[in-house]
Amino acid sequence: MIKWMRRMLKTCQILIKATSKASVKNKFTNIVSMTNSFIQISDSHIDDEKNVWGTDSQKNLSSVVKSIASRNYNALIISGDLTHNGTSSSYSIFKEIAKPISANLSVVPGNHDNKLNLSSAFSQNYLTKLTIADWEIISMDSVQDNKTSGFLRKDELKLLTENILSSTKKFIVLCLHHPPISMESNWDDQKSLENPDDFFNTLDKFSNIKAVIWGHAHQSSEFIRNDVKLFSCPSTSLQFNGPEMIGYNHYNLSDEGEINCETVWL
Ligand SMILES: [Fe+2]
Repeated sequence: MIKWMRRMLKTCQILIKATSKASVKNKFTNIVSMTNSFIQISDSHIDDEKNVWGTDSQKNLSSVVKSIASRNYNALIISGDLTHNGTSSSYSIFKEIAKPISANLSVVPGNHDNKLNLSSAFSQNYLTKLTIADWEIISMDSVQDNKTSGFLRKDELKLLTENILSSTKKFIVLCLHHPPISMESNWDDQKSLENPDDFFNTLDKFSNIKAVIWGHAHQSSEFIRNDVKLFSCPSTSLQFNGPEMIGYNHYNLSDEGEINCETVWL
């Protein structure tokens, strides 16, 4: 009887140990999943031909996808120029390469894209809003027909205002393809957004916008304007003014409304 009781006591002790280990692990897992973040990729320039501007844009996107797939993040935004010439087949190639990272995705058009082909290839993800905890990422269409530079039409700015007003989230990030400020580099600012004043006049009416993100310039940069952080995302294919690397942006979002960006270079 005493032997049996001792055995039972030992079994109970082992069970208590195992349970406390599991709760520590669960606690740790919860801490990890509480870190909210999203990833931005841009300007992949996928074409029917592998070689675009002297580099294999398909191979480069595959490397970026592999890197992203190994990270923890909540959502992915693609800020335009997914393809070089906007053909339906190039969107199929893009989708096949990006399959491992296709969940919780929003796609924004760039000047090299064909809006019709892009929106039909990504019908569920075209200019969709992304929400992560207290944050919302709102996308805009800044592309003009047959022009490299961008413009936010009146109806696009009206839609932006409506989207911000109807948001139930505390903090907002805005995404568009074209830079709304000078890139302060060799980049030709004439190719950027033609009406930044209209954009910032809208933005300045709200205090919950924490950041604006874009692509197009193939350059990683960070600026600040009236406490709003401004981030430019590098290309997954090639940078116009170096470095000779490919990259993407990974943003961390705090519960207090802080956003920080890590540019990941490969
Ligand atoms: Fe572009």
